[in-house]
Amino acid sequence: MSKAVKVNDFLEIVKGRRSIRNYDENVKISKEEMKAILADTTLAPSAVNLQPWRFVVVESDEAKKKLRPLVKFNVLQNDTSAAMILIFGDLKCYEKAEEIFDQAVSAGKMPQDVKEKQLSEVIPIYTGYTKQEINDVVKIDSSLAAMQLVLVARAYGYDTNIIGGFEADQLAESFGLDPERYVPVTIISIGLANEAGYSSVRLPVEEVTTWK
Ligand SMILES: Cc1cc2nc3c(=O)[nH]c(=O)nc-3n(C[C@H](O)[C@H](O)[C@H](O)COP(=O)(O)O)c2cc1C
Repeated sequence: MSKAVKVNDFLEIVKGRRSIRNYDENVKISKEEMKAILADTTLAPSAVNLQPWRFVVVESDEAKKKLRPLVKFNVLQNDTSAAMILIFGDLKCYEKAEEIFDQAVSAGKMPQDVKEKQLSEVIPIYTGYTKQEINDVVKIDSSLAAMQLVLVARAYGYDTNIIGGFEADQLAESFGLDPERYVPVTIISIGLANEAGYSSVRLPVEEVTTWK
């Protein structure tokens, strides 16, 4: 367990979580701690382990000022959070397949022949996807990372709000990314809570589940 982890009770992390929109403006998250949070976040699973999530940590006054007009009704989170983490999915994530599989081979976690087989199968599948298909794949993977980030943040003593209300058509370009390649998935505000948040309800399990 990382030294910075403050809460290590899984049910407390899950059941105590609420979307927090107002944060203590005086609390920043150091780069070292943010890197630890993101490293734990990237332990999330992804299809063929291609890890298509890409993060932009918006923490400086200048970058937050740029983000502000793009977050619609979510300016409080932008103004008070330690950081707004933009999550994009890389539509060309398969370009890192070889690097990832090589890393696994070097670490003794994947035999060389498995690497070669995986590469020869994965690349044609990914390059053969339609734009909609690859979009769905990277959004699913990146959303899993988003959820993991929310839970990891709580372990480190911070709270979050997943934000879908933003100008999706402007986000990548505004932060220097190629909009044809990087699809915006969500924005997560993170910081030290300055409110309790709202208690929310859930549909009963019976209503959202069928057993066959
Ligand atoms: C994909 C997604 C998009 C969301 N977008 C916003 C948003 O733009 N602004 C906001 O205040 N909350 C947003 N939320 C938070 C939800 O309103 C919140 O999760 C829900 O009401 C349940 O409350 P809880 O998170 O406190 O359990 C979003 C949540 C998700 C998962």
